[in-house]
Amino acid sequence: MADFDPNAGPTSRWLWRLAKITEDNHATWGGSGVTDHGALTGLADDDHAQYLNSARHTAITGNPHGTTAAQVGADASGTAAAAVASHVAAGDPHTQYLLESAVSAFGLTLIDDADAAGARTTLGAAAASHAHPASDISDSTVAGRNMLTAADVAAQKALLAYTTGDIGAQPTDATLAALAGLDASAGLLEQTGADAFTKRAMGVGASTSVLTRADGDGRFAALSHTHPASQISDSTAAGRSMLTAADAAAQRALLSLGTGALVNITVSTTAPGSPSVGDLWVDTN
Ligand SMILES: [Fe+2]
Repeated sequence: MADFDPNAGPTSRWLWRLAKITEDNHATWGGSGVTDHGALTGLADDDHAQYLNSARHTAITGNPHGTTAAQVGADASGTAAAAVASHVAAGDPHTQYLLESAVSAFGLTLIDDADAAGARTTLGAAAASHAHPASDISDSTVAGRNMLTAADVAAQKALLAYTTGDIGAQPTDATLAALAGLDASAGLLEQTGADAFTKRAMGVGASTSVLTRADGDGRFAALSHTHPASQISDSTAAGRSMLTAADAAAQRALLSLGTGALVNITVSTTAPGSPSVGDLWVDTN
């Protein structure tokens, strides 16, 4: 009995009474029957609906115990609402923020733009990177714009309508065009016809090649040159022997002439004035 205080709340009082009944009955019944509370049957029965259990306690709404705001550390009802209403009613409770009334109507149209593109539209400004047509060049002329927008160089030339004389150039010439068509290979240029040219290689590489001086020296005789007697194509051996004999005596020997070949023979009607030894005179009288 000493375990339950009948004045410590309804649950404790209920338990005190149950213990008191059990104790009284036990004394009356002479000690037979269940003596342990935990051994009783029907312990889970909800036989006393007048007492609170967890389900009935949860079902209770409102404030059955009359708990005050002060008891739970809360402000009195209406305190927060009044504070909020006062704050809302204040003219400028957040001085760190700019009042909408301080922003111009134009500023407001800029603030609500979703992005930079929208802001540029509001401001009437162009993006940092943008293009213009030629017509936006304020000091441009029609002629200048036409050149600026011409499709290609050919179109620009047509716009200029220049002649070769305008730029001091020589008119197109078929001969020059033919020469311009030659490749970069080395060679000697030969004109083979009207506005027709061919290039001949220098040296002996081809039958059409043009000899250089060095090539020619190996193939042709110099302007001044000699030949041995053997290179006189129609000469005879006898003739070549006479041609190459060392002197007249050798030539006389080749001809098998004796000393008589050296005698002066005078055919006249008068004797020679001062003949040499061995001279002959034939008197024609
Ligand atoms: Fe010769």
